[in-house]
Amino acid sequence: TTKIIMDTDPGIDDAAALTMAINNPEIDLKLITAVAGNVSVDKTTANALKIVNFFGKRDEIPVAEGAKEPLIKPFEDAARIHGASGMEGYDFGNDYGTPIEKSAVQALRDAIMAEDEITLVPTGSYTNIALLFKEFPEVKSHIKQIVAMGGSLTGGNMTSVAEFNVFTDPHAAEIMYKSGVPIVTVGLDVTLKALLTQDSLNAIKDMNETGKMLYGLISHYNDVSAETGGHPMHDVNTIFYLLHPEAFTTKDVWIDIQTDGPAIGAMVGDIRGAYHDGKTNAKVCVDIDAAAFNKWFVEEVSKMR
Ligand code: BDR
Ligand code: CA
Repeated sequence: TTKIIMDTDPGIDDAAALTMAINNPEIDLKLITAVAGNVSVDKTTANALKIVNFFGKRDEIPVAEGAKEPLIKPFEDAARIHGASGMEGYDFGNDYGTPIEKSAVQALRDAIMAEDEITLVPTGSYTNIALLFKEFPEVKSHIKQIVAMGGSLTGGNMTSVAEFNVFTDPHAAEIMYKSGVPIVTVGLDVTLKALLTQDSLNAIKDMNETGKMLYGLISHYNDVSAETGGHPMHDVNTIFYLLHPEAFTTKDVWIDIQTDGPAIGAMVGDIRGAYHDGKTNAKVCVDIDAAAFNKWFVEEVSKMR
């Protein structure tokens, strides 16, 4: 099994990513930390708890609340895309538990240091991770890799050049990409290719309670589906990568993050190796088997409650 920690801002696609991770026997999800992003951190924390509780795991998988705003940039949410609560469309009830007492940074430190090797999976802004690396740099040697949703080599979804997770906290992204920890970048280059089709969504609708839940959430996703005929499942692609790296094409490049000016939040990939002399700090996913992603998604849901 692969031991992982998810740092997340649910958010509809985050909720689907948590669903896939919690239920897969090949993944051992040790901790969930929440960060402000799609909605405020009290809501992202509550939403993570709702998913954990939905699968009856509240005594097994701790949830810690993290940063309520980016390091420097003022916070702006994405409630226009994910709805006021961040997870509309399904009634999770009111009894879904509470976060642990520890802060996200302390919980991350303790969970990482308890393992020789663990994979970090951030699917929100990287604020918690940047704070962790500043306060407890000793964790770096215990992290096998970071598989991070965010960024793009080919254009943004917030500005013409910046993707939401990186745009929301570019200073944190810069710290993460300069950390020296191996990073796999799962950005818009692949997530906008691997859209969940309406056929896939219809297939899960009446499959089981999980299918009903995800159908409810995704039906409230104010994404680009109307234009493209499918729903981007951005964050879910991190879990798909962990389980099926063979479905991805990757490219090793050096990534720099723009932290001010009109390109703030943009990811610059040194594709030609001209600026960084061929050195690399990330493995960027540049292509994906979208049909395999859809097939996997539907099959996984069919095995759930
Ligand atoms: C990313 O932004 C968020 O809204 C999604 O949850 C995903 O992590 C996509 O740009
Ligand atoms: Ca997210």
